[in-house]
Amino acid sequence: MSQVSARVLLRAAGVAVLIDAPDGLLPALLHWGGPLPGLTEADAAAIAESSRPVQSPNDVDTPARVSLLPEATTGWTGRPGLQGSRNGVAWSTDFRVTEITFNGTPLRGFLSAGPGVLRFTAEDAEAQLTLDLEVALSDGGVLTARAGVRNDGTDDYTVDSLTLAFPVPAEASELLDLAGRWARERMPQRRPFTVGTHLRENRKGRTGSDSAYVMHAGTPGFGFADGEVYGVHTAFSGNHLHFAERVFTGIRLLGGGELLLPGELRLAPGETYTGPLVYGVHGTGLDAVARRFHGVLRARKRRLSTRRPVTYNVWEAVYMDHSLPKLLRLAELAAGVGVERFVLDDGWFGARRHEHAGLGDWVVSDDAWPDGLSPLIDRVNELGMEFGLWFEPEMVNPDSDVAREHPDWILSARTSWPVESRFQQVLNLSIPEAYAHVRDQMMALLDAYPIAYIKWDHNRDLVDAGDQTRGGRPAVHEQTLAYYRLLDELREAHPELEIESCSSGGARVDLEVLQRTDRVWVSDCIDPLERQVMNRWTAQLIPLEYMGSHIASRHSHTTGRRHDIGFRAATAVFGHLGIEWDLTEATEEELAQLTDWVAFYKEHRDLLLGGDLVRMDGPDPHQFVHGVVAPDRSRAVIGLAVTASLDALPGPRVRFRGLDAERRYSVRPVRLGAPQGGLKEPVWFGAGVELTGAALERVGFTPPIINPEQAMLFLVDAVD
Ligand code: DGJ
Repeated sequence: MSQVSARVLLRAAGVAVLIDAPDGLLPALLHWGGPLPGLTEADAAAIAESSRPVQSPNDVDTPARVSLLPEATTGWTGRPGLQGSRNGVAWSTDFRVTEITFNGTPLRGFLSAGPGVLRFTAEDAEAQLTLDLEVALSDGGVLTARAGVRNDGTDDYTVDSLTLAFPVPAEASELLDLAGRWARERMPQRRPFTVGTHLRENRKGRTGSDSAYVMHAGTPGFGFADGEVYGVHTAFSGNHLHFAERVFTGIRLLGGGELLLPGELRLAPGETYTGPLVYGVHGTGLDAVARRFHGVLRARKRRLSTRRPVTYNVWEAVYMDHSLPKLLRLAELAAGVGVERFVLDDGWFGARRHEHAGLGDWVVSDDAWPDGLSPLIDRVNELGMEFGLWFEPEMVNPDSDVAREHPDWILSARTSWPVESRFQQVLNLSIPEAYAHVRDQMMALLDAYPIAYIKWDHNRDLVDAGDQTRGGRPAVHEQTLAYYRLLDELREAHPELEIESCSSGGARVDLEVLQRTDRVWVSDCIDPLERQVMNRWTAQLIPLEYMGSHIASRHSHTTGRRHDIGFRAATAVFGHLGIEWDLTEATEEELAQLTDWVAFYKEHRDLLLGGDLVRMDGPDPHQFVHGVVAPDRSRAVIGLAVTASLDALPGPRVRFRGLDAERRYSVRPVRLGAPQGGLKEPVWFGAGVELTGAALERVGFTPPIINPEQAMLFLVDAVD
């Protein structure tokens, strides 16, 4: 077996990655972070030499080498990258690299290059395994890694865990990841990066409303603008994990991978398992990290236009009470305020008149829709709107035709079915017939009606998700891949179809599902007070144009709070705008205000959805300032929200960054709808004010006094 060596510097968009794979050893990152200008081969060798660890007392004689896939054979006593065995043997690997390519061309020795893809093939002859490790740096400076392992033996090899890890320096001593729950997704949590493992395991069979989302490590107190920050995201919509691990020698790693259930991944001879992509992003401040992540979706093959259609969703207006006259009236009112896409939510199919029945039978209900969906869809189209339809393809109610006819299609680890959640069970899409059932029913509807958009829901965690037809073996891995396949198949047949990833609100938001879908429903909670926080942190990974953001009713259905339209709309416009409100109970005045807000959004959506996100760390935690800056720095929209009583009135001056320091900008308040509650305007409001970019960032302007739970916007335009 010939062993090869390479040392590679990859550079892109202000990020440098120095990868070292000497003498057949697995690649390790000598540096991941800011640029290393002018680095020569000799300089890279000097870094490698000066990075060699000193043996710590009472440690192995040759200090452990921590590669992207750390191995116990090197003396590493932290988490190994590959855990698995052949029935208890061959559990400790010692891979040797036999082939290295860069963008498909064999590589030896030193390379300094821009973005590209490195591929390492490594073998462990004793364990009879081959590892395929891909490491890439994108044009936008995003590092990705993915590993696959092939069983070269003659008996089965069980993969228990395959994770990859990126090292971060000791200065990155504070962690930030996300948590949450239904209706309160993606809440930040911070802690010191202490010795041990901060492990975020997801066993929900979907990304999860409490997912870690991005595991960050940074210099203490890092904020939106400041601090050196590293962020890692595991892109997988099934069971997965994120971790931050620090060991006694001071080494700190951020890593991730799929979480495999016992015996879930048993490789027969010749079979390969490939794990998910693990993304790594470095930047100064959380905004820089977020923007790099945004670049991933903005560089997606299927680009989203910034002219995202204003959407009306009927869910909170009618729930499952589908009456055609009411829905027609809603369509007319929606079109009247400027809506461009009308979405019919849950309740149109099978026996689904309530939550207890019908899921899984994707056939238009004769009871609720005696003439089919055409009377509604035709009118929606006549009114100039696209039509969208809700599905929950993986789910069944036990009280459904499909569950009655095929009880063995339900995911179940035992002879009894798993505990119900929202009266439903999960269909095993890895069974070809079950998959075909869902696909064919969905295709039939897509062929029968002009459906431009699917809201794809998934309203329960996978619990005890086994394959009954194979003795209850764990089936989350296969289920997740089948879900991706189904999305791909539908999209291939209907290339123009847009799909929203919804899961009890925002429980399926990750970079893998968003390679195949075009929007996420951030949360079932549309209360703008909650959304100020949820949208702010959802944008840590995905750009605003992917975030479903609706103007809800006055009275929030999930929190009971009441808010005026100004707060609801000024919050919602930073996202893919929609309305979710029974417009038949809106007053004429409210409809007029809504019309103005939709018009405002349409006028500015290229900027709102195409610019760079800026979030400010203000001195008062209840004064939120955020906004979007045009890529050419000629314009910006600033949002100011007051979420609770401020310490001082007026609140802290509004400062905003991201514009050209020396250019002069006019700053004008946006006056839409009724006056804000408690509004007291500063003198500059009358004529607006002109400030340089530097003055906006370093001096700022006096904000109005507004009541808690109010928001307003400012338009910023270069005047030169
Ligand atoms: C959960 C979603 O998040 C809601 O918007 C709605 O579609 C319901 N499911 C329907 O059951």
